[in-house]
Amino acid sequence: MNEKIKEYFKNPRNLEIMTDASVMGKGGDPSCGDYIELYLKIEKDIIKKASAMVAGCPYAIATTSAFTEMITNQSLDDAMMISGDRVAALLGGLPEEKIHCSLMGPEALRNAAHNYIMARICTPMAS
Ligand code: FES
Repeated sequence: MNEKIKEYFKNPRNLEIMTDASVMGKGGDPSCGDYIELYLKIEKDIIKKASAMVAGCPYAIATTSAFTEMITNQSLDDAMMISGDRVAALLGGLPEEKIHCSLMGPEALRNAAHNYIMARICTPMAS
């Protein structure tokens, strides 16, 4: 494990439940133990705040933590362009067998964006 990943693992950023989140999305698979919940506070389609809860290995904690920083203050569209590869690159690379740890953030973001858009579409119109 490189120093940057170690640092993110030992001092994780934004790993908490956000009680006033606009939306939440899930990534990974709870049935196999690797799983995240990503919370977003969104204003005018900009992610003003991101946090997550992680069940997974130290690499999952480090990559998810870094991902919450990378998507903060990004538009939803721009945030969805941030791939697991970019998260891994920011952290100086991941071992092959840990690549999937970096994919849970982007997956959870796609789910959160879907939930966010569906909530807006399905909100009853005021009469
Ligand atoms: Fe499965 Fe990291 S979350 S090995």
